[in-house]
Amino acid sequence: MSHLIIKNATLVDSSSIYEADILVHNGTIKCISKDITDKKYENMQIIDAKGLLLMPGGIDAHTHFNLDTGVAKSSDDFYTGTVAAACGGTTTIIDHMGFGKAGCSLQSRVDLYHEYAEGKAVIDYGLHGVIQHIDDNILKEMESIVLNGITSMKFYMTYGFMLSDSYAIKTLSKMKSLGGILCVHAESNDMIEHLKDFHFSKGNRSAIYHAYSRPDTTEAEAVHRIIELAKLADNAPLYIVHLSTHKGLKHIEKAQNEGLNVIAETCPQYLLLDEEYYNKENYEGLKYIISPPLREKYNQDKLWLGIKNSKISTIGTDHCSFNFSQKLEMGKEDFRKCPNGIAGVESRMSLMFSEGVSKKRITLNKFVEITSTNPAKIFGLYPKKGSLSIGSDADFVLFDPNKKDTITHKNLHENVDYTGYEGFEVKGCPVMTISRGEIIAENNNFTSKAGRGKYLKRDKPIMI
Ligand code: URP
Ligand code: ZN
Ligand code: ZN
Repeated sequence: MSHLIIKNATLVDSSSIYEADILVHNGTIKCISKDITDKKYENMQIIDAKGLLLMPGGIDAHTHFNLDTGVAKSSDDFYTGTVAAACGGTTTIIDHMGFGKAGCSLQSRVDLYHEYAEGKAVIDYGLHGVIQHIDDNILKEMESIVLNGITSMKFYMTYGFMLSDSYAIKTLSKMKSLGGILCVHAESNDMIEHLKDFHFSKGNRSAIYHAYSRPDTTEAEAVHRIIELAKLADNAPLYIVHLSTHKGLKHIEKAQNEGLNVIAETCPQYLLLDEEYYNKENYEGLKYIISPPLREKYNQDKLWLGIKNSKISTIGTDHCSFNFSQKLEMGKEDFRKCPNGIAGVESRMSLMFSEGVSKKRITLNKFVEITSTNPAKIFGLYPKKGSLSIGSDADFVLFDPNKKDTITHKNLHENVDYTGYEGFEVKGCPVMTISRGEIIAENNNFTSKAGRGKYLKRDKPIMI
């Protein structure tokens, strides 16, 4: 019978801000009210949170831990990745499985990812399925996978396992019939392949040509196409991951205005970093090779506006850490060979707070909505997660809104040899992370143990 009382905090959820105490019993929220008395409870822990904001713990619905591309392995696993998440104020992640061998079953990927996570994850986690090919067996398997709590899957319009438009319609229809949602990496493969070879054939090998091979048109065309395909699939729910361009956003806005079930996610890297990073000296541009690539700066304001206007609903990180040493070894002579991905799970909350709330681009409530409540709703975790309600899991982040810090690789827990946000000054930092009533991180120190995170069997999405 464990009890925790957090006193004197300012509680912030996606719609309100108020002063109250909060009582946690056996990992869930038992009571929220003014002046909860501590007298009648045994095994009582009390935290005085005066001056702090208490918000639902962050939910990062887009990570890639243990990613194996076949030629490169990402450096964070479910232990290091979730420790980093916890220290940054995130209490739930939903990981995107990587591709397996051609022709493999969906269940084989699910089994492998359970193995990766069990005994390692320190925060609660869910999994998104991955579609590599479509046939009758896969369509049948989708039924049991969704029933077992994987109510979202990712479909790629580029990379090695890029799928055709007819497969997209089949997958969208099937997910709709099962009550799930399809996450789509929208980049136009053939345009990109043509441009990559075109630039390389002219002797252009450096990191900036990664961006020049994937101009905004390549995202916008794919976003537009997948929206039209979802429309053909009887308005199937569609979640566009890592949206990076104004051009793509315009298609999403139009679809939403027409009443289509289209949701968009963006990531801190597209809000805060830009194409110029590819021109850094000493091959440092390789650090930013990600897909879609960093964009021309003008896109950033448009994406912030999209968040403010609720056209973009969530902030994921697409955390996919490859060491700079590995990027250098593989990509120095040929941008096409550099592993794609960047870390970000640890800095997401403070970057979004600082650049969003402290710089007055978004409200506090919007911050909670995009970093926690909306991902919980869309991915079938609400109101267990993403909410400060009686009965919800006691997953909290306590933020000091005035604390200043400078992001630097040496203070982060991500298992990678750099951060793309080196030198970013932030105002507003997580000072304590609580998962199911347990303090798991305090002042940038992880305080719990491997394997405490639980697998989350997810419900059907709530379309926001
Ligand atoms: O560059 C990226 N984004 N790597 C991770 C895989 C993906 O496409 O999300
Ligand atoms: Zn992707
Ligand atoms: Zn991704």
